[in-house]
Amino acid sequence: MRKPIIAGNWKMNKTVKKAVEFVKEMVETMNDCPDMEIVVFPPFTALHAVANVVRDTNILFGAQNMYYESAGAYTGEISPLMLADIGVHFVILGHSERREILGETNEIINLKMKAALNYRMKPILCVGEKLEEREKGKAEDVIHSQLVRNLQDISKDEMARTVIAYEPLWAIGTGKTASPEDANKMHAFIRGTIISLYDKRVASMVRIQYGGSVRPDNIGILMAQPEIDGALVGGASLDVESFVKIARYTL
Ligand code: PGA
Repeated sequence: MRKPIIAGNWKMNKTVKKAVEFVKEMVETMNDCPDMEIVVFPPFTALHAVANVVRDTNILFGAQNMYYESAGAYTGEISPLMLADIGVHFVILGHSERREILGETNEIINLKMKAALNYRMKPILCVGEKLEEREKGKAEDVIHSQLVRNLQDISKDEMARTVIAYEPLWAIGTGKTASPEDANKMHAFIRGTIISLYDKRVASMVRIQYGGSVRPDNIGILMAQPEIDGALVGGASLDVESFVKIARYTL
């Protein structure tokens, strides 16, 4: 049985003060939380402060990005060594905003995947198609190629620790969600691809999250799908009440 994983990607939002207030409230409200993982992704500036609040609680935390080298002359970058140093559990890699706005290629994402796994962090690898690719019937081809290129030279053990987030670009921040059935179909395709690249045992361990306009009112029907193991939530994770409602989804 795969453990559900609900993650809040705050993107470029929240000061240190707001981030700390948020996680303090989360820790209090979710201390009885069932057998699941709840992860927040603050901006880099708030990571250390958040780490201090959530230590020894059931709230996990992660980084929204990182560079693939451990140290050196890379002005403005944050390394996996620095993230591991403050106890980061997860790192989001290949988010479509980084692919589209910041020009990250599949090859760069692959280097970052290897670096994160080397430092024992769990990557959440984001894949997703654009609207025109879906309309042309190319959605599966796009996802397949992202997976093959982003997962190159990742071992079976490393793959089993990886989380995949299926985030169709047309659903991110638009209020449009993939129908639960369409999302489930793509998740099944992703799991099938992992079987072909690895094997059934590994594929059965990999958690696949859905992302794109997840809200308190649609989390239940999404999580009811057999292939959906969690959600990567953007906008609706910024407000603590809304994120708690999502984390406490009931089937
Ligand atoms: P959204 O973002 O929930 O605001 O659509 C999801 C994401 O980008 O991870």
